[in-house]
Amino acid sequence: MTTSIRDGGPALKTPLDFPDSPLSLAQRQPLLLGVFLDLQDRHLSNHPTTNSWTFDYNLSIVQKAEASGFEIAFSRMQWLPKGGYDGEASLDSFIALGAMAAATSRILLISTIHVLYGPLHPLHIAKYGATLDHISKGRWGVNIVTGHRAIEHQMFGWNRIEHDKRYEMAGELVDVVNSLWGETENLTYEGKVSPWKLENAWITPKPLFGRPVLVNATGSPAGVDFAVKYSDLVFITSPGGADIGSALETLPGHIRNIKDAAKKAGREIKVLINPVVVSRDTPEETGEYLQGIVDGMGGDTEPKRFKGYDSDAHAWRGQNGPRKQGYKLGGNVEVIGSPKEVVEQFVELHRTGIDGLQLGFYDWEVDFDHFLDKILPLLKEAGLRV
Ligand SMILES: Cc1cc2nc3c(=O)[nH]c(=O)nc-3n(C[C@H](O)[C@H](O)[C@H](O)COP(=O)(O)O)c2cc1C
Repeated sequence: MTTSIRDGGPALKTPLDFPDSPLSLAQRQPLLLGVFLDLQDRHLSNHPTTNSWTFDYNLSIVQKAEASGFEIAFSRMQWLPKGGYDGEASLDSFIALGAMAAATSRILLISTIHVLYGPLHPLHIAKYGATLDHISKGRWGVNIVTGHRAIEHQMFGWNRIEHDKRYEMAGELVDVVNSLWGETENLTYEGKVSPWKLENAWITPKPLFGRPVLVNATGSPAGVDFAVKYSDLVFITSPGGADIGSALETLPGHIRNIKDAAKKAGREIKVLINPVVVSRDTPEETGEYLQGIVDGMGGDTEPKRFKGYDSDAHAWRGQNGPRKQGYKLGGNVEVIGSPKEVVEQFVELHRTGIDGLQLGFYDWEVDFDHFLDKILPLLKEAGLRV
């Protein structure tokens, strides 16, 4: 619980203060399951895939996930110049996940928003968020990102803001947006580290469960501080890189630090990671599938992501570390194997303190069906899903 930035303002509630909020209901699962959508072209390998950035393709994934009991749908979002990163076409995550609110009924929808670009005014975020909160009946949330690539900030007309300063600015913004969502009076405020002001600002309707779900994704001390103060869910990476062995060795200490810090602050925070799952019925068939993907990498398909845009993110530093690295399949941890082997790795990840998995696949149409048919039942048997 936090207090409004207005002197004498009310204590502000979060979705976890309401036992019937979609977030509270989701958290009854031992292991939360989500889909990590690609609302953008991705070209990891020449190996065939049905993947598509289109809204319809991604909505069908989310509807299938919802029908299978998944709790979360989430998408990344980037702003890149022509020829950038993961291909050309990409939909805006805020608009696309928001639009899915009207076509779903139970799943949480988390939009990634670069809250500092523009700059977006806190009144805009509060009003848009309250609107989506009502359309989704408390299922919408925001993954607060501040932009780690220099080129993105330049696209918006300034040089990249220093790493920890970005979190300070995002913190001030969230304080104000939270206050607008929870305030019982008009709010007047002038940004201390932010370039905006509000005078007699007011938002109704108020969100149904205190505020929308707040999320951030990080690997840095400043980002963890931010998560502990504001977020319900935090997306992390493996400090050891994407190889499952390296991840299992390095995650426990990292997660303990985050949860200890949250506890100290009197808050509870759920820790999520996004595995890419490569699986077929047997270890041999899985090996063949993996080899097909790996053989299709390199040459003219060398992912544009490795072009080397200047980034100051801490989250992926483990990828350059001394430990065994993965196959660069696009997830922050790679889970490869038969259904039984996949579940064994999920059990191990859960033991490190991971509360939820934001799943990704090389080929959504084929691989997600395989997951639902062959892996999900074993997860239930393992007691990770109720
Ligand atoms: C799982 C995960 C997903 C992320 N998704 C995005 C994204 O969609 N867009 C973006 O600009 N940054 C994204 N980021 C980057 C973070 O928002 C953050 O800018 C970056 O990790 C740098 O912060 P840090 O140094 O605190 O890690 C993501 C990070 C992680 C760990």
